[in-house]
Amino acid sequence: MTDKKPYVLLTRRLHDFAIKELKKRYTIFVYDGKIPMPKKILGEKIKKADALVCFPYDVIDGKTIEGAPKLKVISTYSVGFDHIDIKTAKKHGIKIGYTPEVLTNATADLTVALLLDLMRRVTEGDRLIRAGNWKVIFGAYDYVGIELEGKILGIFGMGRIGQAVAKRAHVFGMKIIYHNRKRLSHALEKKLDAKYVSYDELIRKSDVLSIHVPYTKGTHKIIDHTVLQKMKKTSFLINTARGKIINERDLAKALRNGLISGAALDVFENEPIGKHHELAKMQNVVLAPHIGSSTAETRKKMAEITVQNLILGLDCKKMIYSV
Ligand code: DGY
Repeated sequence: MTDKKPYVLLTRRLHDFAIKELKKRYTIFVYDGKIPMPKKILGEKIKKADALVCFPYDVIDGKTIEGAPKLKVISTYSVGFDHIDIKTAKKHGIKIGYTPEVLTNATADLTVALLLDLMRRVTEGDRLIRAGNWKVIFGAYDYVGIELEGKILGIFGMGRIGQAVAKRAHVFGMKIIYHNRKRLSHALEKKLDAKYVSYDELIRKSDVLSIHVPYTKGTHKIIDHTVLQKMKKTSFLINTARGKIINERDLAKALRNGLISGAALDVFENEPIGKHHELAKMQNVVLAPHIGSSTAETRKKMAEITVQNLILGLDCKKMIYSV
C-alpha cells in the first residue's frame, strides 16, 4: 500500500509540539545535519515534498523550486522572506507562509538593548573586566557613554518593528525621525510623535540610525561609504534587519576612520561570523548572533504559526500570514 499522506520536509528541527502536530497529519522528514541543509541534500529531498518548512538562512532559489514538482506550500519560520524566490514560487502556484507580528516586540526589545549597550558601553566594559584591564574607577573621562535623552533616533523603515522601536525610544526621551517608502498617516505620525524626513535628512540628522527595512534588490548594501560619510561623526548605527543591507567592508572602514562612533549589529552579510571577522576586533562595535526574534515566547509563537500556515496551505485554506 502506498503512503498517501503529504510529505513535509523540514530543513531543521522545530519545537517538539510542532513536530508532533505535523506528524499527526503528514509523513515528515527532518534534516538534522549541519546547518544549513546542504544544497545537494535539499535538492534531493525536495523532489518529493508537498510542503517545505524553512529558515531565514536556507536559500530557496528558483532552481530549488523548479526541482520540486509536487511542492504546494513553503512555510518559513521567519518574518523575512528574502531567502525565497517568491516570483518563481508564485509562478508555480506555491503558497508561501511567514511569521510577522509575533516577533515585533522581541526584535524591538533587542534593538533597544543594543542601543543602550552601545551608548553606555556595557559590552565594552564587560570585555575590559574579563580581560583583566579594569585598573581605575570613576575617572572623569573613563568609559563615558552618551545619554539617550534628547538624542535623535532615525528609523529607516517604519513598519511594525520600526514603530515598536519608536514607542520604546520615547520612554528614554529620544526624538524620532523616520524615512519609509510610504509616509505614515498623519494620525499615526502624531501617535508615534515621529517626523517624516527624506532619506538624506535621515542619514545626516540621526544621532542613532536604526535599520528596519526588508532586504530587497533596492536595499542591497544601501548603507555604504557614500551614506556613512554623510552621517554625524558622533552617530551610531544599529542593524537588526538583514546583514546585506549594509556594505560591511565600508562600515568597518568608517568605524576605523571615525566616520561614525559605533555600531551594534545582530545581522551580517554572511552568518555566522567568527572572532576573526573585522568587526569582531573593534571595541566600538556590539555584536549579537542574529537573535532578534529569539525569546522563548516569540519562538514558540513562530513555530505555531509556521505549522498552522503549512496545514492551512495544504488544506487549500487561507494562511494566517501569507506573502
Ligand atoms: C526573521 O524572522 O526574519 C528574523 O531575522 C529572525 O530574527
